[in-house]
Amino acid sequence: MLLPYFPFEERYSFTMGTFPLKETDPLVEVDEHYVAEITEKRRLLAEDHGYYFDALPETLLAQWEVLDKVLRSLTAFYPQHFQLKIEGDHWHWHNRLLDEQLSFVFEDNSSLPFSPLDWVGRQVQEDLLLMAKDEAVSLKAGQLCFPNDWDLGEKFGKSFLDIHTHIPKVLGSMMLTAQKLMERIIAHRPVWRLNWNFKIHNALDMSSKYFVASRKELAEVGPTLTPDTIGERLYLRIERQTLTRLPRSGYILFGIHTYQNTLANEAKDLDRARRMYQVLASAPREVIQYKAIPYFEEALINYLKQNLIET
Ligand code: HEM
Repeated sequence: MLLPYFPFEERYSFTMGTFPLKETDPLVEVDEHYVAEITEKRRLLAEDHGYYFDALPETLLAQWEVLDKVLRSLTAFYPQHFQLKIEGDHWHWHNRLLDEQLSFVFEDNSSLPFSPLDWVGRQVQEDLLLMAKDEAVSLKAGQLCFPNDWDLGEKFGKSFLDIHTHIPKVLGSMMLTAQKLMERIIAHRPVWRLNWNFKIHNALDMSSKYFVASRKELAEVGPTLTPDTIGERLYLRIERQTLTRLPRSGYILFGIHTYQNTLANEAKDLDRARRMYQVLASAPREVIQYKAIPYFEEALINYLKQNLIET
């Protein structure tokens, strides 16, 4: 099986890579991992709620807007799995995949078991974050269970640009363009983009609390990988990210759906192997270092080259 999206083009690009999210594109996606990922999400939230969820009280209206958009998108794109009946303020939700039903009063917080963002986040595989309308576009709420090397605590309250201070300097002007996009994105014109990384684990929760241990393991395991072993040992982790302006509150919903696959499964596709090779070969050194690729770079490049020659 191939990943549903593939972020590698002909060569490394310095552009944001955003596209309009069309009406025919779902805001949130459901795949065969749905039940397992929702179960994992709920386990993490039960174990350490404050680590995986946080929200300022001023975000409540935006949270209800997220609930509204997400439930409508689920029922529109996956009517076989989800039903929503709306009778005035009384909403009835039926999630057949989880065999769960809930009746609640729209915008009545006491009618939900959790705050709206926290509840609706437990219905989808996506992480959901809310960025305020303020000039800095700062992070004000989020349910973040499957992050790639970050967590809510370290970014909470920070502006869009401060959130991105660690990223490579060569991407500075791209981030300024992205900041402008964040200020200008208008309601009913959502956008989406893809991000990619290579990981030696397929755990979805790569929160910062695991960073030191996982970097140590990468430093040990990465250099032992060879073109013969790396295909099955390395995962391509991609994020489908959506940005949606919420019409009433003006907040921006940032949704992240993480997908992963072994390098071997992706590289079996000749075109994908070629594009990975070309993007890696043309990416700035800083980006390769930021993404922690040097630990296994030689094996990865040789593996891709070998795949291209043998096919
Ligand atoms: C058009 C919008 C956006 C663009 C173009 C963008 C771009 C990027 C890029 C290029 C990276 C470097 C990571 C990599 O390539 O693997 C990055 C990392 C990151 N992005 Fe974004 N991003 C966008 C929106 C957002 C939003 C709305 C958030 C909100 C929380 C966010 C949070 C992060 C975080 C936490 C990191 C990791 C930063 C670190 O290393 O400390 N991004 N982003």
